Amino acid sequence: MNKRKVMWLVIKLLIAVWVIDSIVDPLIFEEGTFISHLLTPSAHEVFVRLLLIGILLFAVYNRTLLAKQKAVQHTAQESEERYRTLFENAHDMIQSVAPDGSFIFVNPSWIKKLGYTQEDLKTITMFDIIHPDCRDHCTAAFKRVMSGEAVNNIEATFISKNGRKIEVEGNVNVRSVDGKVIATQGIFRDITRRKKAEGQLAGLLKDVTRAKTEWEITFNNSMEIIILLDKDLNIIKHNKRFADFVELPPQELLGRKCYDFFTCNPTETGHCLGKIHDGELREWTEVKTNSGHWFYISHCPIFDENGKFLHSIVIASDVTSLKNTQQRLQDSEEELDSLFVNFVKAMVNALDAKSPWTKGHSERVAGYAEQIAKEMGLEDEKIILLRLASLLHDIGKIGTYDYLLDKPESLTEEEFEAVKKHPDQGTAILKGVKQLKDILPLIRYHHERIDGKGYPEGLKGEEIPLCARILHVADSFDSMTADRPYRSSPGKEYAISELKRCNGTRFDTRVVEAFLKILSNS
Ligand SMILES: [Fe+2]
Repeated sequence: MNKRKVMWLVIKLLIAVWVIDSIVDPLIFEEGTFISHLLTPSAHEVFVRLLLIGILLFAVYNRTLLAKQKAVQHTAQESEERYRTLFENAHDMIQSVAPDGSFIFVNPSWIKKLGYTQEDLKTITMFDIIHPDCRDHCTAAFKRVMSGEAVNNIEATFISKNGRKIEVEGNVNVRSVDGKVIATQGIFRDITRRKKAEGQLAGLLKDVTRAKTEWEITFNNSMEIIILLDKDLNIIKHNKRFADFVELPPQELLGRKCYDFFTCNPTETGHCLGKIHDGELREWTEVKTNSGHWFYISHCPIFDENGKFLHSIVIASDVTSLKNTQQRLQDSEEELDSLFVNFVKAMVNALDAKSPWTKGHSERVAGYAEQIAKEMGLEDEKIILLRLASLLHDIGKIGTYDYLLDKPESLTEEEFEAVKKHPDQGTAILKGVKQLKDILPLIRYHHERIDGKGYPEGLKGEEIPLCARILHVADSFDSMTADRPYRSSPGKEYAISELKRCNGTRFDTRVVEAFLKILSNS
């Protein structure tokens, strides 16, 4: 209660007691009037009235004092209760340590996290729970605290009873009585997770930094051209290789359109870098520029976490040298193929020139064999080999005496034995040609018979390659439909009847049936 209120209270009491006593006296003692007692009181009336006022003031003061004491006591109880609640329920660890390092008290969270019991605390000191790695700086901080300095945000590593390391951060101050330090009070927060996360983040940053460094080194030292383009195909970054390729200073390239330098030739490639953002060049694409350079180009758009386009990375690999080599190789292969075809033609021509009676025989046999093979459904690759073998099947006759080939009479047994050597002779002539190795069995066995009475080895049935069986039928049919020096052509009908008569003995049944079908349709 302030002075103004006290003064007003005294004045109010004075007026009240004065008035009431002035009323009471005439009524009780029947002396004088209310006015005389009010305005001209006697000395003892003044004394009584002042005494009453004093008693009332004392009562009021006493009551006020008691109320204050109760309020202070209530506040203290509430404060203690709040502190106890905080102390017991705090998530942080709270400890009070004596100047010698022994524990005075710790809160339940401290017990729970570190695992020591109240009994353990009687036998250990603060220094026993500090990890050796941070013991020095904690000891130094403890001395500073004992000198009266508050230490804030100190980090330390505590060791739990089971040996687990707990990273903590906290504030420490002192409690003094009469200027003498009697204890330190500290509150610590477990930051083990935070420290672990910080460690992981540091590791991550290290990885990112290393990756960035590696990327920069790769970017700047790559033999490939690497450029970054914005959505309008402006160059926003490029490596040294690109500047070297276009022979311009790097500062003159930024902001320029990529197609200023990489205009491709659409007539040869069908692609253009201008189509990058259509997503057509995601895969490696072959591009030829107007300057005559060949490039393999890849394009990779980069998006942010919301899927918004950021830029494109274009990698262009100069393969001009490789393409030129490929072209030369292709030209060489075509030349070699042409050479091979001419070689085969030359061999056939040589055979035709040797005997006018067999001129055109090889070409006709090749035609028949190809038709039969197609009718039987052979693969294209086998048909090509069969046609080649048909053209060269009698090449061994180059080594046969001319008079035997042109003899108007029938051959003697001895002469026929000489002629029968031509499959082996043909094989021997061609065996050095790598491209013909697959047709050698067809040439060697084109006179073998299904019944095993053919030559040179007398193979039977499936022992004879299928294409050799086809070649044998085609060869025999053409021989029977052509003139020979020792006879005129027996004719097509005779040849057909011979095919039927020898079906299954000289000739393969499937081949004959296919050929008869062709002949009946022709
Ligand atoms: Fe032959």
